[in-house]
Amino acid sequence: MDSSRLKQIREEAMRQIESSDALDKLNDIRVSYLGKKGELTSLLKSMKDLTAEERPKFGQMVNDVRQVIENKLEETKAKLSALAREEQMKAEVIDVTLPAKKNHVGHRHPNTIALEEVERIFVGMGYEVMEGPEIELDYYNFEALNIPANHPAKDEQDTFYINDKILLRTQTSPVQVRAMELGKLPIRMLAPGRVFRSDEVDATHSPSFHQIEGLVIDKNITFADLKGTLAEFARELFGAETKVKFRPHHFPFTEPSAEMDVTCFKCGGKGCRMCKGSGWIEILGCGMVHPRVLRMSGIDPEKYSGFAFGMGLERIALLKYEIDDMRLLYENDIRFLKQF
Ligand code: DAH
Repeated sequence: MDSSRLKQIREEAMRQIESSDALDKLNDIRVSYLGKKGELTSLLKSMKDLTAEERPKFGQMVNDVRQVIENKLEETKAKLSALAREEQMKAEVIDVTLPAKKNHVGHRHPNTIALEEVERIFVGMGYEVMEGPEIELDYYNFEALNIPANHPAKDEQDTFYINDKILLRTQTSPVQVRAMELGKLPIRMLAPGRVFRSDEVDATHSPSFHQIEGLVIDKNITFADLKGTLAEFARELFGAETKVKFRPHHFPFTEPSAEMDVTCFKCGGKGCRMCKGSGWIEILGCGMVHPRVLRMSGIDPEKYSGFAFGMGLERIALLKYEIDDMRLLYENDIRFLKQF
């Protein structure tokens, strides 16, 4: 009977269990002593060499050692799991006195604020807001607006052509044609949107910017309606004191055509840095819709007339917020945008 071997196993197991510092190590120890191919199991197998008298005694001894090892394993397992739990709790501790994380909510872009203001004014006068495609047919962008094939406005230099017939719209005026083609009269519409020109970037130019187009078609619309409407618009946008001035101009799709200036809202017309000393600020182009444009879109110029206008959205935003460089509008620097 090899009781010294049994004693050795027991001591060796105790030592290993005591020195183990992780739960998975404990499991390895269990397998190596108590498992099917473990040390104790093989000792039991060797019992066949013992006498009938010795066998139960030795069996009892092996079982005792087994029990001792098992108890020690259980005890150590409990200790190690408690330790692990404690460490986890320490690692996951929440400091409730730390300041909360701020959720950064975006901010409306100055262009958007200006656009919503312009839309509010015209919607208040019964206008409908419309959209047209940014990739446009040459027909809508030029031809139907009475801009013939050899017109300088079609120049390769400032138009992004996709092919002979398709281009990135250079103005929002094509939406006028699309509105008229819908065949529903009268029309009172506003069409904001992005436009494109092959311009170099500087403080007042960008290859992509925005315009707001307006169109009114009805019976007996006159230049007086145009002036009254746009003067009212200017007063609402820049203040009740604002005066307007119409200078003759040329646009192929309107006749007569004009550019509208407003009295400088900074100096009230006396002349300052803002208005470059003139007291006036140019704000938009406008005119009475050319009879040829009406006819091309299926409207009888003998029965109907109308006016149109177009303005640069960035220009309005820059003026309204006294921003001196258009590039600031496109950089999306939160520190800049947050100011408006
Ligand atoms: N489309 C013109 C431009 O880009 C602006 C314009 C002028 C629009 C007169 C109009 C208008 O509707 O009547 O310069």
